[in-house]
Amino acid sequence: MAKTKSFRCSACGANFTKWSGRCDGCGDWNTIVEEAPLSAGPASKSLGAKRGAALDLSDLSTEEAPPPRTTSGIGELDRVLGGGLVASSAILVGGDPGIGKSTLLLQAAAEFARSGLKVMYISGEEASAQVRMRARRLGLADAPVQLAAATNLRDILTTLEEERPHLAIIDSIQTMWADNVESAPGSVSQVRAAAHELTTFAKRKGVSVILVGHVTKEGQIAGPRVVEHMVDTVLYFEGERGHQFRILRAVKNRFGPADEIGVFEMTGAGLAQVMNPSALFLSERGTPSPGSVVFAGVEGTRPVLVEFQALVAPSPHSQPRRTVVGWDGGRLAMILAVLEARCGIPFTGLDVYLNVAGGMKISEPAADLAVAAALVSAREDSALPADTVVFGEISLSGALRPAPQSENRLKEAQKLGFTAAITPSGGKALADMGLKLTQMGDLTAFVGDIFGAG
Ligand code: TYD
Ligand code: MG
Repeated sequence: MAKTKSFRCSACGANFTKWSGRCDGCGDWNTIVEEAPLSAGPASKSLGAKRGAALDLSDLSTEEAPPPRTTSGIGELDRVLGGGLVASSAILVGGDPGIGKSTLLLQAAAEFARSGLKVMYISGEEASAQVRMRARRLGLADAPVQLAAATNLRDILTTLEEERPHLAIIDSIQTMWADNVESAPGSVSQVRAAAHELTTFAKRKGVSVILVGHVTKEGQIAGPRVVEHMVDTVLYFEGERGHQFRILRAVKNRFGPADEIGVFEMTGAGLAQVMNPSALFLSERGTPSPGSVVFAGVEGTRPVLVEFQALVAPSPHSQPRRTVVGWDGGRLAMILAVLEARCGIPFTGLDVYLNVAGGMKISEPAADLAVAAALVSAREDSALPADTVVFGEISLSGALRPAPQSENRLKEAQKLGFTAAITPSGGKALADMGLKLTQMGDLTAFVGDIFGAG
């Protein structure tokens, strides 16, 4: 039988039988690479009649103590982890190169070590001297962290076995190589094998591991997504190059809520926590201007106010531009379609730019109404009062749907000095927060009453 070739996407790990330029799984371009053919695997007969051991079964109500946790004292990190580090857990921290992953984890390593854990930091990218230099600069040189520069997985596992730390940080998973896997370090097979060995080791021996994974654009190096399913917790460290703010976001957490965020600021002395992100995201806001709308959002358990900015201008192109930063382009197309079809506000022949100020990424559907408000405000050249926040989901019919945690949002807005809010009607009755509430049932009423448009 001829050996069939196998191809795999290095970003999401999807399998293909032939090469193509674009991955059907994740939509990324140029990420599909040929893989060493897999072994034929076990023969295709059934397991046979040989009996195995019977499993110990339990029921769902069996009492289990909550997992023991250790807090680092970095509140923003602890909250994203779901209340601290769970023993024997495996955590992936992904992010673009240079975003600050090593800085964050060195700071975390030092704090966990100071709070009594035995912490090992294994750097596959930087020499020990470099890591020590950074630690000195961050004022962490006195923390009892055990440091090593290594990439051989076998050596690392042996060391972990002997030392039995509470926490091992592997920076980064793409530099690790297992000598029993034939492909080059960074390939999908190597990254998978290394992550598998480390996470199973974590479960077996009671060592927590944190794996650092670079988000990659080229196809030759596997991205962190190929190991997401192997770990308990997946955190992404995000931020825009030009901005100081960094956001640590939980996208999967077996031990706590997903969608929780921690906000940091990159300073000359490492990452500093941002306790009140709303104030920070709104700090650069000037006088009210058309196209600017404050959205009262919720990230995980915490309300965050951000500013949406829209610009609508006649387009010189036959196909007008739709450019979005910090929000979903597909969702923008939907809002534009609803504005056109239900409210009679066309955007044909107009370029549309939408931006979330401060480098924040918003994925909540509750931002729909704020986006619509920003678009109409920009188009009609009419500013919303500066002390007003907006939130609510828009359905395709143009109806407005109430958003979860409305009271939380209003409370945060009130705390930051806002005096009015525009929200969908219906849903739970809202307690009086001292804000002037304007509740609307559908988008047509909203654009008509607020902007006199449509
Ligand atoms: P780093 O943690 O090395 O990023 P990653 O591990 O995600 O690739 O961070 C690199 C950037 O952070 C670098 O551009 C310099 C900046 N930085 C500061 O601004 N202040 C600091 O105190 C440190 C340590 C780094
Ligand atoms: Mg690094």
